[in-house]
Amino acid sequence: MDTFTRLITDWYRQNKRNLPWRETSDPYLIWISEIILQQTRVDQGINYYLKFKKNYPTLIDLANAKEESILNDWQGLGYYSRARNLHFTAQFIRDNYDGDFPSSHKEIIGLKGIGDYTAAAISSFAFNLNHAVVDGNVYRLLSRVFNIDTPIDSSEGKKYFQSLADELIDENNPANHNQAIMEVGALVCTPKNPNCAECPLTDICLGKMNHTIDSLPVKSKKTKVRNRYFHFLIF
Ligand code: ADE
Repeated sequence: MDTFTRLITDWYRQNKRNLPWRETSDPYLIWISEIILQQTRVDQGINYYLKFKKNYPTLIDLANAKEESILNDWQGLGYYSRARNLHFTAQFIRDNYDGDFPSSHKEIIGLKGIGDYTAAAISSFAFNLNHAVVDGNVYRLLSRVFNIDTPIDSSEGKKYFQSLADELIDENNPANHNQAIMEVGALVCTPKNPNCAECPLTDICLGKMNHTIDSLPVKSKKTKVRNRYFHFLIF
């Protein structure tokens, strides 16, 4: 096992959070959890995941549900296209795959609402396929550990970080490697005040050695600040 994998997976074994979607290898439930977590914090996502698991325990239950009921259960999460895509794709799998979640990365990434990150997450967590996840946590961690200032929102940066993550993944246990790298990114290599003192990668971190951590990762586009005006109806 590579040093990188050993360091993050040893740490992960001792420090991981008990999260409900980590207790299953059902691709349907993993898919639901990853779609919920796309724009939602983990602590908020847990309740929605448990609600969906209870109300739609199988893919067929979700496919056969009324859109109205799914949107109602999604309330509070925002970005309702995610819920509509869930319903659409559940029906698509019911009608085209006999209700069995497809098990190849190529088929998974072809599903509506599933991009690179989600396809890699489902492929690895459910089927232990060798596909590296690159989410915001992973961009941040890799940019710091390898001291890379290529903007993460450029097409060059996306390719570069994906190929680096692909090189690093542990072929013997891609699922565990992927969970571990995201967890170190989420809990230790945080956006502000990263906890380098507790970081399993601190001895090999080039960003730490070069004092560049606070300026990484680099984004080429500035986050737009928008004024948004809402009207609320209170019943
Ligand atoms: N954020 C997105 N996916 C996650 C996962 N599987 N575990 C923890 N945090 C996540």
